[in-house]
Amino acid sequence: MIDLILRNARLAGRDDLTDLGVDDGVIVSAGPDSAASEVIDLDGRLVTPPLVEPHIHLDAVLTVGQPRPNVSGSLFEGIAVWAERVADLTYEDVQARVAQVLRWQLACGVQHVRSHVDVCDPQLRALRALVDLRAEVRGLVDLQLVAFPQQGILGFEGGRELMREAVRLGADVVGGIPHYELTREDGVESVKFAMALADEHGLRVDIHCDETDDDHSRFVEVMAAETIRRGMSGRVTASHTTAMHSYNSAYAYRLIRNIARAGLHMVTNPLDNSVLQGRFDTGPIRRGHTRIKQLREAGVNVCIGHDSVMDPWYPLGYGDPLQAAFVLVHYGQMSGDAELRRLIDMITVGPAAALGLDGYGLRDGGPADLVVFDAPSEADALRLIAPRTLVLRGGKVVARATPAQHTVTWLGTQEPVTFLRR
Ligand code: FE2
Repeated sequence: MIDLILRNARLAGRDDLTDLGVDDGVIVSAGPDSAASEVIDLDGRLVTPPLVEPHIHLDAVLTVGQPRPNVSGSLFEGIAVWAERVADLTYEDVQARVAQVLRWQLACGVQHVRSHVDVCDPQLRALRALVDLRAEVRGLVDLQLVAFPQQGILGFEGGRELMREAVRLGADVVGGIPHYELTREDGVESVKFAMALADEHGLRVDIHCDETDDDHSRFVEVMAAETIRRGMSGRVTASHTTAMHSYNSAYAYRLIRNIARAGLHMVTNPLDNSVLQGRFDTGPIRRGHTRIKQLREAGVNVCIGHDSVMDPWYPLGYGDPLQAAFVLVHYGQMSGDAELRRLIDMITVGPAAALGLDGYGLRDGGPADLVVFDAPSEADALRLIAPRTLVLRGGKVVARATPAQHTVTWLGTQEPVTFLRR
């Protein structure tokens, strides 16, 4: 007698149905005759490993409108508004806002989160709050914290020392923002500084890189070169890289080969970048995101990040990676049959690799961490932004949803509506 059997699960990437057994927190095989304390018939619903959020700014969540609204909606006005809001940060304020959004993420099936944390604060208030929260929620939602210099490392007074202090306080990952430094040379130097700091402490790297429409912003090549030289393949992520959209194709071809050789992970953030890029174009307006399809063809791991939840840069969102994937279907033109399935990989196995998660995935003997979608396929999950009816962590139910029931009165008869093709 095992603890639980989930019957008729449709695992992501497969068409047949399977039974999943759960016992003592791990996945075990279950056949038609297996017995369990609890049996749940999933009736063909999609099951995936936990969703993984590779890129969010938790310290800024739920601050939209504070201390003033971002009237233009632009990236630069957002940075200016945030610099004002940072002055009011307190330990309690950060913890309360982040804890609320972590609950939202867990309800969406997210169990691993990499958050950038602005360290351009001499007191490092947000980082201290998040380091403590990370310890409190470990095993429920696992946090990786990136020392992120929003105002630059060389261009912000004491920037280098703040980065070192952030590492001493317990940052898991070293960040950067080379395109925001004062000069190109400073940008190159900031990448080298961040990678050396990470290398010295055995940490990972995740740099906001070339988040601009300027086709002369070319810091990803420096990241690739440093990764190759330092032998840090697999431990380095380049986030945003929107300028790549505007590079000439000869340069992009060479760059993508080097990114693949370096084993960089890439994170695209369709929610924020769909509204922030192309702001200086009068028409046609460039989409301004990274070259997802070419990177994937070269074998590069491209992940989807949510980036913002109700902050000065993006006023919407509730932390659901599926919503970001839905936008990428359109914005990245990923509506092909196989691409719809791949989008689910880009919020699960892809970011799990970028974060270096050990033991991730659904397999016998592995942790019973999983997510059940109220949809029979990847395409339906995306189409409906389907509720996560069941989220297990270590075999325990940590989130549940009761999907809304819709009825219509159709020609005099009341009928249920499920939005599913039967
Ligand atoms: Fe970001």
